[in-house]
Amino acid sequence: MDYQYIKEIETKVGSPFYIMHPDVYEENVKAFATAFRKRYEKLIIGYSFKTNYVPALCLKAKQLGCYAEVVSDMEMDLALSLGFEKIIFNGPIKRDEALRRAISAGAIINIDAEYEVDFICQYRQEHPGQEIKAGLRLNVLLTDENGNSVVQNGLRFGRFGFPHDILSRNIQKLREAGIKIISVHGHTSSSDRAVINYQVISDYMLRVCEEFELNDIEYFDIGGGYFGAAPEGLDLTGRPKYEDYANIVVDSVEKNEWFKKRKPYIVIEPGSSVVSNVFKYYTKVYQIKHIGDKNFAMVDGTVFDVKPTMHSNNLPHVVISDTEGGEEEVYDVVGSTCMEKDVILKDVPLKRLKAGDYIEIGGVGAYTICLTPTFINYLAPIVSIEKEDVKLVRRRQQLDDILTIYER
Ligand SMILES: Cc1ncc(COP(=O)(O)O)c(C=O)c1O
Repeated sequence: MDYQYIKEIETKVGSPFYIMHPDVYEENVKAFATAFRKRYEKLIIGYSFKTNYVPALCLKAKQLGCYAEVVSDMEMDLALSLGFEKIIFNGPIKRDEALRRAISAGAIINIDAEYEVDFICQYRQEHPGQEIKAGLRLNVLLTDENGNSVVQNGLRFGRFGFPHDILSRNIQKLREAGIKIISVHGHTSSSDRAVINYQVISDYMLRVCEEFELNDIEYFDIGGGYFGAAPEGLDLTGRPKYEDYANIVVDSVEKNEWFKKRKPYIVIEPGSSVVSNVFKYYTKVYQIKHIGDKNFAMVDGTVFDVKPTMHSNNLPHVVISDTEGGEEEVYDVVGSTCMEKDVILKDVPLKRLKAGDYIEIGGVGAYTICLTPTFINYLAPIVSIEKEDVKLVRRRQQLDDILTIYER
């Protein structure tokens, strides 16, 4: 992106703004699908709405044949309003109304807890003529022989899905109510996103399917949580690729007799691994301040737009300027809210900056736009660029958008 191009966009939509690249998303999704289909044809991709639910992006997912993977009433409403006919309904809290809608939409419902089993059994009693199907989310342990767990945040026990000791009674309840168990779900967020975790997950899912003779399973859903296409500028050495995950899962399932006989769909639910590098963020420098031994570059963007979780890694970045730039200096690029911790880049060497330069931040597609509150600033616009097709897929927020849910 050259300076003139970015300046032109800024003139139209203001700064800061995001650029979305749907063609990059398409490449990622197709590459992930190919990695599996080379080895096993029956694959379903459920795009994880929570990771980034920009409607224009979700529509691209639909166009590519993805299912909508949703985890709340809000995400379900969105999927239905975008015309998704294929929906996977996950998540720990499924309100009665959302469950009813999921059943009538024919969604694959992966039950996370016993209250849902009770609801669905009750529902079935009230609708005796209707065929009801459900899936079970399993609680998977990712603990190695030394007792170290890689479940997100190093937890020994994650809280999602059914632990093994209550599976039997819940499977029995569903069977007695005449509900077909058609999906088994093993999503387990890990802190290392390691390939080996997917062998542990698949093997455990297979064990449960065999042990409880889950012979109606149509969907073998290993969830999300992969590494994937990373933004340019990030060192990918040693990072797993889509193929690595596909190979370990197919290696695990293809030698299993239960799996070979049933041949269910393998379902993956990628989020970050397909969307991180689809979005970039552009923010304008207003002022350079030298305070003590620090150089602060004050910009109109905010850390809340690029890493709302405020992790300490500097995202890939490029300075876009109309001048060559001089010597390098070390900067903290600081955001436009009134918080000291609004630091977009920390201690980064950059060619000398001046007011009017832009800074591009890469890899901002996952858990950013969907996690940004209206805090101090209006939400930034999103411009979609796909070859010659340039369009605004989110305008800048206005006061009315904010006030509409409030009463005076
Ligand atoms: C059930 C489920 N599926 C898929 C995902 C997507 O994960 P990621 O964005 O890490 O790929 C998540 C994220 O937590 C999840 O909870």
